[in-house]
Amino acid sequence: MSKKLVAYFSATGITARIAENFADSIGADLFAIIYTYNRLHKRRLGLDGQKFQK
Ligand SMILES: Cc1cc2nc3c(=O)[nH]c(=O)nc-3n(C[C@H](O)[C@H](O)[C@H](O)COP(=O)(O)O)c2cc1C
Repeated sequence: MSKKLVAYFSATGITARIAENFADSIGADLFAIIYTYNRLHKRRLGLDGQKFQK
């Protein structure tokens, strides 16, 4: 386990590749921040329009 960590967010995979290469070149661990925001979250936050607002 390294003392260095590269944490990244990537939706398309482009940043993921850069992060992987970077982590590899400096001997760091890699941590992917996963995108979980979806329509359900939108509904909970009341951001999905009048239809879903109480
Ligand atoms: C749903 C969604 C919303 C985003 N909103 C923003 C934003 O408001 N401002 C911003 O600078 N980048 C935004 N991004 C871009 C990301 O922060 C990040 O730069 C990008 O997804 C990484 O590139 P990659 O997915 O091509 O690897 C968003 C990405 C997604 C998937």
